[in-house]
Parts: sequence; C-alpha cells; structure tokens
Amino acid sequence: MAEKVEWYTDFVNTKRRPAADELVALFKVQPAQDFSMEEAAGRVASESSVGTWTTLTTLNKDIRSLMANAYKIEDQYVHVSYPLRLFEPGNMPQILSSIAGNIFGMKALKGLRLVDVGWPKELVKSFPGPQFGIGGVRDFMKVKGRPLTASVPKPKLGLDYKEHARHGYEAWVGGLDLLKDDENLTSQNFNSFADRAKQSFKMRDKAERETGERKSYLINITAETREMMKRAKVVKELGGEYVMIDVITAGWSALQTLRDTCQELGLAIHAHRAFHAAFTRMPTHGMSMVVVASVCRLLGVDQLHVGTVVGKLVSTKPEVLSIEEKLTADSSRAGEGLLGAEWSGTRPVFPVSSGGLHVGLIPPVLDMLGTNIVVQIGGGIWGHPSGGKAGAEAMRDAIDAYMKKISLEEYARKSRPLREALKKWGTATFR
Ligand code: 3PG
Ligand code: 3PG
Ligand code: MG
Repeated sequence: MAEKVEWYTDFVNTKRRPAADELVALFKVQPAQDFSMEEAAGRVASESSVGTWTTLTTLNKDIRSLMANAYKIEDQYVHVSYPLRLFEPGNMPQILSSIAGNIFGMKALKGLRLVDVGWPKELVKSFPGPQFGIGGVRDFMKVKGRPLTASVPKPKLGLDYKEHARHGYEAWVGGLDLLKDDENLTSQNFNSFADRAKQSFKMRDKAERETGERKSYLINITAETREMMKRAKVVKELGGEYVMIDVITAGWSALQTLRDTCQELGLAIHAHRAFHAAFTRMPTHGMSMVVVASVCRLLGVDQLHVGTVVGKLVSTKPEVLSIEEKLTADSSRAGEGLLGAEWSGTRPVFPVSSGGLHVGLIPPVLDMLGTNIVVQIGGGIWGHPSGGKAGAEAMRDAIDAYMKKISLEEYARKSRPLREALKKWGTATFR
C-alpha cells in the first residue's frame, strides 16, 4: 500500500465527544476551492494541536493522545475539542498561538473565524479574573442602581495637560463619574503623562470636594510594559483608583503583567479595545469580539468597551448582547454561533458602551444593554453648544430621565443643557 503522505482526516472523528476537561473551539470554516469541509476541518484541528502537513515518523502513542478532534461539523460551523495537556495553564499567549495561530493562514481555507471558546474549569481557574468586577467598582465609586457615566475630552489629542485637567473638572462637576483618556493619548510632548496625572487628580479631588460625589479617572498608561508598571505606581501615589490600557495593541502578556501589578496596588483596569476591528469585523475571517471579551475577563480587566449598536463604530445588536453576556453571566447556554460558558465565580466585567454616542442615544443603548453598564460620551459632550460642563449636565440629566422613566423631551423642559443637546443632535443614530 502506498505510503500515506498526509493524515488530516485522523483529526476528524464525529463519534468522539469532548471530555469534560477539554477546551472546545467553535470555528466558522470556509474551505478553499477543491477542499471538502471535512478536509478543511481536519486541517484546522491538526495545525492547531500536534499535526502538520505530512505524516511523521516521530509520532508516538502519547502524542496521539494530544490530537485535537473536529467532532461536530454543521453547515459552516466546526466544533473542535482539545486535550487540556496541550495548554500551559495561566499562559494566554500560548493558548491563542494554538487555537488562533497558524490556522488563519492555511491555503486550504478561504476563510476561518474563531467565533467562541468553551474554557474548561482548569484553565478558567489558572487566570486571576477581575480584581473588582462590577460590584467592586460600584462599591468604590459609590454608585448603585444607575449606569456609570464617563467622558473623554475631545479633540482626542492636542489639548495640553492643563486644558485636559480643566475639561476633566468641567465633566466631573457637570455630574459625570469618570474622566477617560482617549486610546491614543499617552505621554506626548503636548501632554506628558506625569503632568497630566498630577494636574488631573488635583482637579478630581477639587471636584469631589465641591460635589460630595466620588469621581475617578481612567488614565491611559498604555506603553512598553515596564513603563506601564511605573505609570501604574504613579497613579496609586496620586490616589487614583483605575488605570486604562489599550489591551490589543499592548498585548496579552503585558495585560497579564499589569493585572499582577494592579493586584498589589489595588487598582482597577479599564480596557480599551482599539485595533480589535482589524480582526473581529469580518464575518468570514478572524476572531470574534466574543472571544476577545472572554480572554479579557479571564485575564482580569474590570471594564471593557463592548460597542453601542447605534453609534459610529460597527457593532450589531446580537454581537453586543453576546459580548455583554460573556462578560457578566456566571454561566450561559449555547446558542447560534455561541458555546455555553461556566465562569466558576470569575467576577463579571463592567460593559462600557462608547463610540459616537450623544444624549439622544442613551435610551436605545440602555433599552438594549440595561443599566448595569458604563456609558462613555466624548464628542457628544465636548460638542455641546454651551461647552463641556453643560454637555456633562445634559448627559447626567438624560440618565436621570431614563431611570425615572421620563422621556428626554419631557425632562428637557426643565433642563436647558439637555434641551440644547437634543436641539443639536436629536435622537439620530449613525447609518
Ligand atoms: C512554524 O512554526 O513555522 C510551522 O509550524 C512550521 O512547521 P511546518 O514546516 O511543519 O509547516
Ligand atoms: C472612546 O475612546 O471611547 C471613543 O473615542 C469615544 O469617543 P466618541 O464618544 O467621541 O466617539
Ligand atoms: Mg477614543
């Protein structure tokens, strides 16, 4: 019999179900021309576990026990199970280099999308999860029952540190809970991290004294890893409660290191997801934001941007709701293009709805996502005809109106800032 050259179909066995401790990955697979779905599925399971393109003389029984298995092929969806021993507990880069590595570049596939991951308890327990989570953030922010409110000063870059801090003060005394840095503001020559941190926390303390409310600052420490640890320590010394990190551009290893440091410092982590759309946006290729969200929850961010559905950045309602469930439920059931999840008590992550919002869009966002979220508005505050403080007042009033089940128009009769904001933006959603 001719020597067998390849063994991909050895990685497809629809009779073998996953063991309870195996990791399961759900892929959407588009085979390339002249490849069957089974051949494509075998290649995915092979290249993401122990296989390669040809049969090997070095394969032994023990290694065979490490083979992944494509156990369910339904339409374009392929379920692959992976023996736990393939993975290093607590090492997210290694896990993703397996289940989200070479396979995206295989010629046998026209498209491949990792749509969800079922994390086995042993791996869930090998990561810290959020230090605070929703309950812990609400405790230190002393805000119960309503959404938390945040604003990022705009223009997103260019303000000097004094202007930045002054706008922060306006937002805080206007009624908002959190000031946020934009994702690309770190330490530029017009606004250094050190100056911005010192001045902004001074303004934060002033705003707290004047309003009698907790105020905090999502200061962006994104940088090389050692530099981020130094910046986190500065935030702690200045009395801050959070650090903000662009988790995708900074990277998973950096986030794991930061999570450890934030445990020592007692700081919450606000995660911006800039760059995610480079690989989450295309429905036929890449990795879903649902998987990104589960990775962020495991690694232990306390807050994560999830989209708005109605704002300026692409985010469909089913996707945003799936992300929210992945971040907040303790267990969830499988659905179309979704696996179930068991979080074994891993704290929930605060979903942050942000991107092109204004007060007219607050009701639809809260109708969709509920009120146990953070709402962030940038341009919709700093474009207010009467300035940022009025913009903040309009946002606080719009939230108050929603919580009291009063229409914005009705509430606007008593609130000039809200009336002016509605006059400028109405309730228009983005096309
Ligand atoms: C790699 O890590 O570069 C690939 O796994 C190479 O392995 P191959 O030559 O068997 O494809
Ligand atoms: C963000 O960083 O969340 C966005 O830049 C929000 O800004 P926008 O409200 O002006 O879209
Ligand atoms: Mg931004």
